[in-house]
Amino acid sequence: MPFDPTELRRVMGLFATGVTVITTRDQTGKPYGLTANAVTSLSLTPPLLLICVDRKAETFPHFFDSKIFVLNILAHHQEALSRRFATTGGDKFAGVAHHLGRLGTPILEETLGHIECRIVETLEGGDHVIHIGEVEHAESGGGRPLLFFRGKYRQLVED
Ligand SMILES: Cc1cc2nc3c(=O)[nH]c(=O)nc-3n(C[C@H](O)[C@H](O)[C@H](O)COP(=O)(O)O)c2cc1C
Repeated sequence: MPFDPTELRRVMGLFATGVTVITTRDQTGKPYGLTANAVTSLSLTPPLLLICVDRKAETFPHFFDSKIFVLNILAHHQEALSRRFATTGGDKFAGVAHHLGRLGTPILEETLGHIECRIVETLEGGDHVIHIGEVEHAESGGGRPLLFFRGKYRQLVED
């Protein structure tokens, strides 16, 4: 019998993560984005990272349109932004401060940092796909992260 997906979500929810918004665009330049924590660094030489995207997401086809994405690493005060990008529909970018990066894809303001990538490979992953992105440019700032643990947003308490 296949393992219960609800139980998998509950146990994997014990693995605390940061929170990102992954942005991309279609051929016309229209921006899209979704909240994601299934992301990881993959290789330093060459510089690669991977993201996992749900096939059901509205943003899903646009990664194939542009073959570009930006990983925006959210700061502690950006929970509302995370909620917005975790909800399908509407103009997610309305009123959201951003500018276009070197690859023409939105970079959100006031994050901890961002990484601009070109998709070099896409792998099957059940109800998700895994996009491997080669890093073209990255920038970081200071600040505290937004965290996600046991299905809730959390704040880092430094000792
Ligand atoms: C903390 C958090 C992490 C998430 N991680 C992912 C992820 O890694 N990949 C993914 O496809 N969806 C993830 N989601 C769900 C998407 O953000 C959600 O399905 C969103 O509505 C998709 O937007 P879209 O349909 O406009 O593309 C996550 C949601 C939250 C709240």
